[in-house]
Amino acid sequence: MSPLLELQDITVSFDGFKALNSLNFSIAAGEIRMVIGPNGAGKSTMCDTIIGKVRPQHGKVLFEGREIQKLSEHKIVGLGIGRKFQAPGVLEALTVKENLQIAVRRNKQWYSSLFGRSATHEADDIEQVLNQVGLLEKMDSNASQLSHGEKQWLEIAMVLVQKPKLLLLDEPTAGMTAQETAQTATLLQSLAGEHSVLVIDHDMSFVELLAAPVTVLHMGTLFKQGSLQEIRDDSSVQEIYLGRAKQEGEHARA
Ligand SMILES: Nc1ncnc2c1ncn2[C@@H]1O[C@H](COP(=O)(O)OP(=O)(O)OP(=O)(O)O)[C@@H](O)[C@H]1O
Ligand SMILES: [Mg+2]
Repeated sequence: MSPLLELQDITVSFDGFKALNSLNFSIAAGEIRMVIGPNGAGKSTMCDTIIGKVRPQHGKVLFEGREIQKLSEHKIVGLGIGRKFQAPGVLEALTVKENLQIAVRRNKQWYSSLFGRSATHEADDIEQVLNQVGLLEKMDSNASQLSHGEKQWLEIAMVLVQKPKLLLLDEPTAGMTAQETAQTATLLQSLAGEHSVLVIDHDMSFVELLAAPVTVLHMGTLFKQGSLQEIRDDSSVQEIYLGRAKQEGEHARA
């Protein structure tokens, strides 16, 4: 079966520095994939490239077999790729429901709001995703009243309500409590099958709970891929993380 998304030999340079360097990567329909790697490995740049925020100097991004690396971010979202950013994007002054209404309408053309699914359908869709992320009872609360974890789930709901085939989640558990982190793992597992999920995270307890296949990026390229167990036991993976820790220690001493 051909993959849902494929990156072929992607290179992204910022002023001559290769944030991505001949990166090859693919994810199947319905699959959850964990992407890890030391700070600066190129994880966020990989998401930026998939969604069309960053243009590769070289290589192709194929989504359902179609080249998308030259399309606008708006078109790419319309094809079925949704992204939650590393920085939070909830509108605090609005209610949970209002945030979702904006998210539903954000990527619609004028004609689809005229002839598309009715307002009742929209309300149903909103309720369904709120139920999925466990925020149904907070529908009419102001987003400012949500806990940090709940805000992250609201953001996931804002992506889900657009019914993406592929979700890109950049560090969804950052700042979460252990319990919220565990709930997030359960939530993402419940999305598999219907959606593909590419999730970037540093938190090893989350990686373990998710128990998904792992891709390791290092210096803008694919370093290793395998089951969590294989990645954890791999001495070269341990080295790239330890090497980083050592460097940081040396800086701290300098
Ligand atoms: N817009 C930009 N201009 C210049 N350099 C950039 C830009 N975006 C990213 N970089 C550089 O590219 C490299 C990869 O950055 P990226 O943010 O993709 O890493 P990351 O793996 O997401 O790291 P982290 O774990 O810290 O989030 C870094 O060295 C970063 O400084
Ligand atoms: Mg990042």
